[in-house]
Amino acid sequence: MPTYRGSTVLFKRQADASDDWRQTENGYSYGVYGTPTVLELGARIAEIEGAHHSFIVPGGQAAISLIYLAFCAAGTHALVPVTAYGPNRELAAGLLKRLGISVEAYDPLVGAGIADLIRDNTALIWVESPGSVTMEIQDVPAIVAAAHRRNVPVALDNTYAAGVLFDAFAHGLDVSTQALTKYVGGHSDLLLGSVSVAGGHAYEAIGTVHKQLGMAASPDDCSLALRGLQTLGIRLERLEKTALDVAQWLAKHPAVATVLHPALPSCPGHEYWLRDFTGSSSIFSIVFDATFSADQVAAFADRLKLFKIGYSWGGVTSLAMVYPKLDRPGQDYGGRLVRLNVGLEESSDLIVDLTQALSTMAAPA
Ligand SMILES: Cc1ncc(COP(=O)(O)O)c(C=O)c1O
Repeated sequence: MPTYRGSTVLFKRQADASDDWRQTENGYSYGVYGTPTVLELGARIAEIEGAHHSFIVPGGQAAISLIYLAFCAAGTHALVPVTAYGPNRELAAGLLKRLGISVEAYDPLVGAGIADLIRDNTALIWVESPGSVTMEIQDVPAIVAAAHRRNVPVALDNTYAAGVLFDAFAHGLDVSTQALTKYVGGHSDLLLGSVSVAGGHAYEAIGTVHKQLGMAASPDDCSLALRGLQTLGIRLERLEKTALDVAQWLAKHPAVATVLHPALPSCPGHEYWLRDFTGSSSIFSIVFDATFSADQVAAFADRLKLFKIGYSWGGVTSLAMVYPKLDRPGQDYGGRLVRLNVGLEESSDLIVDLTQALSTMAAPA
């Protein structure tokens, strides 16, 4: 697929001119709704996810805001797990609050108990599984069942699974979003998001607000994402294996109290991962023993050489990030939680790097 750039679409006759975002059905009308390159990326994401349609937007956070604004209005209520991606919660507490939308954070492990939190004006429920940084796996089918009994749509942040390892639409989700920035891009050199819909009302609601917000995605970035898709399968396989090798090694290290990796029983909600996912990917977190100070943990991150300190994930380079302040009711990690993203390096090299960085951290008494 070539990179088609463009704003203007030329019509043969005045009578043919239209400004319709439904380009898949009605033909090209304007660049904001996507050039052939953008629509091709959307079509391939939709095929992978089994969606009716995937809208491509400038980033993962843009996708999150589009979903809120498509479903919520002043006076409505939405539910979001307390473990959702931080900027999702910041949007809720900032702009959405200012617009009169009330977003309530819930315990990601609430399961069917979500029914008690649904109000008459609940317009949207978010799930993000695993949760950001602390990796809780949610009982998504139970949440979807409770939501649908009250006709409330459920949107999933499906970035961890790359739209592959968790089948959103087979589990009843109305919307599945991904930061394509991560696994689909795969090389930390683009920002894109997708919003995939099961069809019907969600398609109309997202398409209309996508147009109104003018959320055009760059065809050049889409072209890179199309290239990323060609190696997605093989990268995911390798990332899963390396992450598991490293996580299992860390689980045995005396300085580490817990490894929060969905495929390990120490991860909250592991049983739902076993039931609902077909694999795990590249990120997980470790919690150091309570005898270590936040400064010692930060110094550990500074000593790493192959693991670089940086946000985001899903690229070729291994990354580490300490999260000193996490809003997790009833759980204070005291600066001892580090999220690791493994890249495409050899797991043996990564373990050598971790060994040297851990070497000055004596085992707790
Ligand atoms: C779970 C999750 N969703 C969404 C995003 C946002 O993606 P982007 O960086 O493309 O805005 C991120 C980014 O880190 C993320 O971790």
